[in-house]
Amino acid sequence: MYNVFETDYLVIGTGIAGLTFALKAAEKGSVTLLSKDALIETNTNLAQGGIAAVSTRSDTPEKHFKDTISAGRGLSDPNVVKAVVSEGPRLINELINWGVSFDKNPDGTFNLAREGGHSESRIFHYKDKTGAEVQRALISRIKQHPKIKVLENTFAIDLITQHHLGEEVNRRKKNIECYGAYALDIKTSHIFHILSKVTMLATGGIGNLYLATTNPPIATGDGIAMVYRAKGFVENMEFVQFHPTSLYNPSERPSFLITEAMRGHGAILKTKDGQEFMHQYDPLGSMAPRDIVARAIDHEMKKSGDDFVYLHAEHLDAQSIRDYFPNIYNKCQSLNIDITSQPIPVVPAAHYICGGIKVDINGCTNISRLYAAGECASTGLHGANRLASNSLVEALVFADHASIHAALHIEDFRIRNEVPFWNEHGVTNPREKIFISQNMREIQQLMTNYVGIVRSDGRLERALNRMHIIYEETEYFYKKSKLSQKICELRNMINVGYLIIKAAQSRKESIGLHYNVNYPEKQKNEN
Ligand code: FAD
Ligand code: SIN
Repeated sequence: MYNVFETDYLVIGTGIAGLTFALKAAEKGSVTLLSKDALIETNTNLAQGGIAAVSTRSDTPEKHFKDTISAGRGLSDPNVVKAVVSEGPRLINELINWGVSFDKNPDGTFNLAREGGHSESRIFHYKDKTGAEVQRALISRIKQHPKIKVLENTFAIDLITQHHLGEEVNRRKKNIECYGAYALDIKTSHIFHILSKVTMLATGGIGNLYLATTNPPIATGDGIAMVYRAKGFVENMEFVQFHPTSLYNPSERPSFLITEAMRGHGAILKTKDGQEFMHQYDPLGSMAPRDIVARAIDHEMKKSGDDFVYLHAEHLDAQSIRDYFPNIYNKCQSLNIDITSQPIPVVPAAHYICGGIKVDINGCTNISRLYAAGECASTGLHGANRLASNSLVEALVFADHASIHAALHIEDFRIRNEVPFWNEHGVTNPREKIFISQNMREIQQLMTNYVGIVRSDGRLERALNRMHIIYEETEYFYKKSKLSQKICELRNMINVGYLIIKAAQSRKESIGLHYNVNYPEKQKNEN
């Protein structure tokens, strides 16, 4: 049995980027939409705070532009920032037309939240479960669409390029083309290929490279690793964002997020012995940008030896806490913490990758016929640090641009039927799989201890040496073994870990999310 799918558009990923691209692409051709788990298992589904977009008289695109550039420490691409802040409001309207609800005030205006680094309240949200609401509405449209075929529990293994046809591939000559992807049916272990005119990667983040993460298990950096192996460009991987406030509950994975909107609502960070500390680090206190807050918490925890700090919301109106943050209220209540009368223990956790697959303003990668959008893409928006709630809006804008660009070019591409079947000759089922989980654990430990919030040249060197050993061992097993989702994910995590370490080593400064003790951060008044 070996089936081959043919489709105009292959879309890998069912978060906000993949779903919105699929809906737009389906107006022009057939779409096959892949998810390695159930449709709903995405980072998008867990998004709490909301989507940043200008909508009030007191706010302007220029203010949103300034906040984004400032959070990104000047490394963002100004043209991309301009595009995102000016097009975000139109795409929020499109979501509303597609059936997404956002909270409103009694007078009918939108209830806009504020988060760290934003000079205005501009976050559209649905209580503290915005992502789930977006995903609900989009999935319901996707399921009704006659031109979209959904394949759940289907794992994209590798992109198909000329390499698989025995033709020459040369990144410098810019001649690489993507003809689809090899995929694994997770339930049957059957490997097949999907041939497409255009492929969109919307595979999300990398949080599972770290011991503590807010990301669900799907976030293993697969799209970034696939592009790297296909000789595509990947950039800015040193900028891994740690969310300052995940719920301290060591036995839980992923870590439950305590939205930044709670600090926007007035909650305050304090040490375990009750000292407010954020004003020692930034005049904005608990509302400082994320890189500063996460590093400050890390520093305070190392100084005191405590396992967490506290987020205090007890001084706020109890009813408003229950109304705006029902998800967090109920979660903490289930752990016997009443957040209207008790502080919440919080710690930083790996949350978001600012870098990824390099794309231009149309979402085009350097591989022809291949696009990327959402968290796996590096668009130039975030620079050295992402501004809160700028990720969902970025995904909307780049999925939109990519759908327009792809529609203009799709008729130039033909399906390459001569792609060979996946070669499983000589592989066997591995007798033991313990090395896979053990190597994953080792990666999480070394990334957390050596490539985390605070780095040094020595730590990065050690991380690279360890990663090399894990790489050699895994490649040996990969070549001999019948493929499984786990071994493919392990291989992807090794590729992504390597890219993060190498990017961190080559940046000889501390800036934004990349903090290396060997290169002290420049003060604001230094050149
Ligand atoms: P995802 O939503 O992560 O979807 C990835 C998809 O790719 C999944 O369907 C997965 O199955 C699929 N996939 C991956 N690899 C493969 C493979 N090999 N084969 C097949 N399928 C594959 N951002 C904001 O702007 N505002 C917020 O309020 C906010 N809150 C957040 C809260 C949490 C807890 C987290 C974790 C993130 C939050 N973020 C927020 C970030 C934001 O949610 C994500 O960056 C965004 O949702 C990513 O969307 P995406 O479409 O790129 O990928
Ligand atoms: C949050 O709600 O704090 C997460 C927002 C984000 O990651 O953009």
